[in-house]
Amino acid sequence: MIKISAAITAVGAYVPEYVLTNQILETMVDTNDEWITSRTGIKERRILKDEGKGTSYLAIKAAQNLIDKKGIDPKTIELVIVATATPDMKAASTASYTASQIGAVNAFSFDMDAACSSFLFGMSIAASYIESGKYKNVLLIGADKMSSIINYTDRATCIIFGDGAGAVLFEPNEEGLGLQDEYLRSDGTGREFLQATYGGSSFPLTPEAMAIGGQYAFQEGKTVFKNAVFNMADATVKILERNNLTKENVNWLAAHQANKRIIDATAQRIELEEEKVMINIHKYGNTTSATLPLLLSDYESQLKKGDNIIFAAFGGGFNWGAIYLKWAYNSRN
Ligand code: UT7
Repeated sequence: MIKISAAITAVGAYVPEYVLTNQILETMVDTNDEWITSRTGIKERRILKDEGKGTSYLAIKAAQNLIDKKGIDPKTIELVIVATATPDMKAASTASYTASQIGAVNAFSFDMDAACSSFLFGMSIAASYIESGKYKNVLLIGADKMSSIINYTDRATCIIFGDGAGAVLFEPNEEGLGLQDEYLRSDGTGREFLQATYGGSSFPLTPEAMAIGGQYAFQEGKTVFKNAVFNMADATVKILERNNLTKENVNWLAAHQANKRIIDATAQRIELEEEKVMINIHKYGNTTSATLPLLLSDYESQLKKGDNIIFAAFGGGFNWGAIYLKWAYNSRN
């Protein structure tokens, strides 16, 4: 019997038009372009400014971009997963709204949140549905409107994050392409170092909480940085070793774009050449669930059928991991 693997067969993306540059941030908080560039690699990020538009707006645009590019009928999509840390609302799934708006009327849908590892973990979920043989068209969207939980007077967080979305379609593959292996981990003792404390079930949002900016994300940057460097590199090494891969047969590293120095450290740990490391943090900053699919979108034209791609991420929780995937198609451009 032929083994069914789960391959990515299409990519879509969307970022909002408004560009928040380091120069503009210099006018908002006590920071400067030199500090931001040398410490993070970020030059600018995109922000969704329109009143009343949330993460679903970004998700819908990215999904529509994929649907147009691939020329698929949205009625054939069976499952829509929106990986996000910033859902539109509580108690109403962003994925359900997204699915309806893109015309995926025969799909079921749900949100999933693993902070900055949401898309990586979502890849595992989407692939499992395909590998089970139950579904043949799974749309995974990574979307976050980070600007909705960022305090633009806190220079430790506002320089890092941006808004955006990316989407991928998973389909069955009989050539052995697609997701090959995964190494995924969590450690809940890390949550105190990166969180938006108020507005959830532990501490509902009150006027008092809002007065101290409790709805915004804060992080103890140095602790998060150290854990990200260690764990992302460790997961990447493990996935290479387990699959007998060396730097020679890795074509690409697609690492979560949180800080250029974390990405460089991961690449250096496996001695990977710079030209194999996907980078777009300078353009978008950290878009949380959208970093990995935005990388795929930016690099899609360079990817070749059979390329070995290592995905890696680290995020709030803490949670992290790495996925080994064989690319399934040559660029249609
Ligand atoms: O997506 C997953 C979650 N997030 C991450 O992975 C982010 C991980 N952390 C980081 O990327 C880095 O820790 C930051 C970029 C957030 C900060 O960089 P850092 O090198 O760890 O800086 P720091 O927080 O240790 O601060 C160094 C100095 C401090 O000044 P003193 O105490 O040395 O005088 C800060 O007050 O830089 C100062 N500083 C700034 N200066 C200018 C902090 N933020 C800024 C800023 N502009 N925006």
